[in-house]
Amino acid sequence: LIQPVVLSGGSGTRLWPLSREKYPKQLLPLMGTDSLLQATVRRVEGIANLDMAPPMVVCNEEYRFVIAEQLRLLGKPGTIVLEPCGRNTAPALTLSALAAIKNDADPVLLVMPADHVITDIAAFQSVVSQGARLAFDGAVVTFGITPDAPETGYGYIQSGAAYAGPSGTLEANARLMARFVEKPDLATAQGYLAAGSYLWNSGLFMLRASVWLSAMKACRPDILAACENAWRQGSTDGEFVRVGKEAFAQCPSDSIDYAVMERIAAGSAKSDVDAPVLPIGVVLPLSAGWSDVGAWDALWQVLPKDASGNVSQGDVLLQDCENTLALSEGRLIACVGVSDLVVVETADAILVAHKDKTQDVKKIVDRLKQQG
Ligand code: GDD
Ligand code: MG
Repeated sequence: LIQPVVLSGGSGTRLWPLSREKYPKQLLPLMGTDSLLQATVRRVEGIANLDMAPPMVVCNEEYRFVIAEQLRLLGKPGTIVLEPCGRNTAPALTLSALAAIKNDADPVLLVMPADHVITDIAAFQSVVSQGARLAFDGAVVTFGITPDAPETGYGYIQSGAAYAGPSGTLEANARLMARFVEKPDLATAQGYLAAGSYLWNSGLFMLRASVWLSAMKACRPDILAACENAWRQGSTDGEFVRVGKEAFAQCPSDSIDYAVMERIAAGSAKSDVDAPVLPIGVVLPLSAGWSDVGAWDALWQVLPKDASGNVSQGDVLLQDCENTLALSEGRLIACVGVSDLVVVETADAILVAHKDKTQDVKKIVDRLKQQG
């Protein structure tokens, strides 16, 4: 069995003013009618020869009704694991592994961020099929993207030797994960790009629930213990799975990447004797139009454009404009003779930004927070 696990935690401040604390980007219909979270759930529908469990979403309890409603609209109720507070992705995945093992013996978890766009579903599904095979055999499977810039907000995976599964036959495209480095500084990232053997970590993972739990036991026993404690104090209420609030508040914060991935890679680069408890890390290249739509320019990249490279949604009139993204929730937006702009209209705020500066939208959000 494959258990899709959707991590829905971030707030997406760089997509302000559409993305708000009450309505973070993964819950918005940025790509048509589905929200990014709904698109994530749909993306795993109909993968040939894979037995796919109903989705499991891990999110803050604040969003339970919106998310339950979005899943219901898809006809995929599933399970919603509620975090009483944010402790980053390592605890979130640990809770979902505990929940998944309770539902089934030891499924392969297909871990997916709720806020990514993948345009080539067929390519995605075929890589996931291959990943499933490797994960069933006990590997931690990561999915690597060919980098085109020295981004410092991503993890970098160095691909190593060709990977042969337990049967000894080489797996097409599969490589041992020689190294995993989360969010390197710019000079390091530039070095990785020049080296050519590094891929961006897409943030998608496949691994058995028990493999995750034993990796946590080896790497972060404190987080595992806190999650197990919170789990024991939890309860199930329809589709919602709750955990003990005080116990989970005691859990240290850490990401999947720092807590486990960096150490797994170190382990699989050495002989097994050095790291007997850590699983093997494998990387599969993913070429499927992946984007983590971190900011407006990334959203412009993945949305369908007219002949001049413009994206418009809602009530928008563009005259002699190029490479512009205009998005209106209500009032008419009209632009004349501009290029490389982002214009976003909502009921209470309007953003006008240069497309090359959309990372800095975060600075506006920070200033708004300071003003209270
Ligand atoms: N449930 C839950 N709880 N989900 C969370 C939490 C949490 O506390 N924190 C983050 N998430 C979700 C986010 O919503 C997102 O979907 C995913 O987990 C990854 O978290 P981010 O905060 O977006 O991580 P990142 O973008 O800095 O880095 C990760 O993604 C990159 C690719 O986009 C890392 O895995 C990098 O290595 C990777 O390159
Ligand atoms: Mg992210």
